[in-house]
Amino acid sequence: MRREAVLPYSLRPMDWDDLDQVAEMEREAFPTLWPPTNYRREMRNRTAEYLVCVREGEYRAVERRQGALRRLFRRNKPEPPEQRRLLTGFLGVWHMAGEAHIVSIAVREEYRRRGLGELLVIGAIEMGMARGAQVVTLEARVSNEPAIALYTKYGFHQAGIRRRYYADNHEDAVIMTTDTLDSAEYRVLFDRLRNAFDERYGEAVREYIQ
Ligand SMILES: CC(C)(COP(=O)(O)OP(=O)(O)OC[C@H]1O[C@@H](n2cnc3c(N)ncnc32)[C@H](O)[C@@H]1OP(=O)(O)O)[C@@H](O)C(=O)NCCC(=O)NCCS
Repeated sequence: MRREAVLPYSLRPMDWDDLDQVAEMEREAFPTLWPPTNYRREMRNRTAEYLVCVREGEYRAVERRQGALRRLFRRNKPEPPEQRRLLTGFLGVWHMAGEAHIVSIAVREEYRRRGLGELLVIGAIEMGMARGAQVVTLEARVSNEPAIALYTKYGFHQAGIRRRYYADNHEDAVIMTTDTLDSAEYRVLFDRLRNAFDERYGEAVREYIQ
């Protein structure tokens, strides 16, 4: 049954103002990741494309970045935090050698199990399709059942194992890939899943679609 005509979440490209919240979400989702991702560098990486999931109508206080001149002008008095739209998830894709490779995906803990991971995967696949990628690929910890279930739902299958891939506990990674994105079978599967998503949760505004 359709719950809402429009989801109160939207997907849009990551912006410089989002980096604090994205770093915060990364720390929550991947506490052992070291070093943390340098998102300022990722913003300049021309093979990288990031999306953020925005919760409409909710805000988060974020410390303002103050340049040296502004600090001098304010005599080092910190400015009050800025209210920014709450981000509830993010996704990063690297486009390389005909693949859209998901490098990161996370949803804030308190917003999980309400379709936002799925919305982000839809975003990855649509970005891959728009850029002419043959397939969407990724690596996941073999123990990461929620993530593997999410990808399997979207037609990813196991393409191999990278032994002892993760530095923190030497866990293996499963390599997953979709079938060829422009095959009729994958198009049918993806359209069915995307329609089912809209029916179940409502349509989300997707600002990365031109
Ligand atoms: C993986 C993650 C992004 C899923 O986000 P989410 O918003 O909770 O997922 P959704 O609500 O969209 O679920 C979509 C599908 O994923 C699967 N899934 C999600 N959470 C699951 C869980 N806890 N157990 C089993 N399956 C799960 C289900 O197939 C689900 O479909 P269904 O609702 O029809 O059952 C989220 O758990 C997360 O941020 N984890 C920490 C970061 C991480 O591990 N990232 C992946 C790195 S490879």
